[in-house]
Amino acid sequence: MRPGHLFIVGFMGAGKSTVARMVAEQIGLPCIDLDAEIERHEGMPVTRIFESVGEDGFRARESEALRALESAPRSVVACGGGIVIRPDNRVVLKRLGTVVYLQVTAAEALARVGDVSTRPLLSGPSGMLAATSLLTAREGLYRSVADIEVDTVGRGPDEVASLVVERVRGAK
Ligand code: S3P
Repeated sequence: MRPGHLFIVGFMGAGKSTVARMVAEQIGLPCIDLDAEIERHEGMPVTRIFESVGEDGFRARESEALRALESAPRSVVACGGGIVIRPDNRVVLKRLGTVVYLQVTAAEALARVGDVSTRPLLSGPSGMLAATSLLTAREGLYRSVADIEVDTVGRGPDEVASLVVERVRGAK
């Protein structure tokens, strides 16, 4: 395994937070959830951050939280689904560690998220339309930062976590 953090990226509902916790446990590293870090720092949930400062305000805080990891002990980091939107973030991800992309389809992502009220970008009139267009726009960005890609469709978090650990251990 290369030095640095192990970043887990992918669309909402890909299972990033759950898989990150399992992988962290298996490889013996701490686990950081970037959305949870932002929420803790701001003292409010992501939905309220979107309401009060808009998506741009949230993205600025997300970039700050990512940069703060430069001085954090080596960890497994579950990133929010939009971390790859900003080009600067993509550079930071590549610089600070190994990136694992958990793939999921729009339909599967929506099914897993269930209640979209906690996902401001999916909670409009058509969740399916929003998920499909966001995923189409982002797929190439996830791929551009990924060192490792794992398809999660038809797999539970246990199986995905084992595959990630196997691939990470095999990566030079
Ligand atoms: C977002 C994903 C969310 C959260 C915010 C924006 C996105 O995180 O950061 O709602 O743009 O895809 P999860 O991927 O953990 O749901």
